Amino acid sequence: MPPASRIRIAPSLLAADFARLGEEVRAIEAAGADWLHLDIMDGHFVPNISFGPGLVKALRKQSALPFDVHLMIAPADPYLAAFAEAGADLISLHPEAGPHLHRSLQTIRALGKKAGVVLNPATPVAAVETVLDLCDLVLVMSVNPGFGGQSFIRSQLAKIAALRAMIDASGREIALQVDGGVTAETARDCIEAGADVLVAGTAVFGKPDYAAAIRAIRGA
Ligand code: DX5
Ligand code: ZN
Repeated sequence: MPPASRIRIAPSLLAADFARLGEEVRAIEAAGADWLHLDIMDGHFVPNISFGPGLVKALRKQSALPFDVHLMIAPADPYLAAFAEAGADLISLHPEAGPHLHRSLQTIRALGKKAGVVLNPATPVAAVETVLDLCDLVLVMSVNPGFGGQSFIRSQLAKIAALRAMIDASGREIALQVDGGVTAETARDCIEAGADVLVAGTAVFGKPDYAAAIRAIRGA
């Protein structure tokens, strides 16, 4: 189980008020968020459309938080440079988004950004095992990607634990993130299983007091 000091909270902008995004980003930084999680959806890889690099670029000026860009788009390769230029600090993508995951991760690193691999609930840990040397982060989806506000899929806790063991055995500095249905209650199980970065949309932006919501998850 990672020490409490290593737990980082990454609120997902998907649950923010889209009519006031600049304000929302400033508010979440002031409330103690560690990263800002930005969900990019194309209506093809996932059945929903969110926003693109233009919005990431506009928000970059509003915040000093690390921008954690979660690509749910296929193909992803043609857009990696655009998200890097827009101000992403970390770019993560799904193995299913293209035929050459290793090359995509190399591209992200060559753009000077941190790289992550995202595993859908049905995607096994083996999908990331042979590219761990190119990963700064592994993200376990605890819902099927596409929408905020879904219920946490408990079967993913065993996957988090397996990845924690794999990362520790590798001796590499790789963050282990979980995304989907994270609340103050499910956060405890995620941390116990070995996660050290928690994404939360509804459980933060859906609450009236962002600082209290972040504290509640961190306190888990
Ligand atoms: C789902 C996204 C998540 C989503 C999480 O496809 O990747 O980041 O915003 O939302 P909650 O925390 O509401 O489940
Ligand atoms: Zn996400």
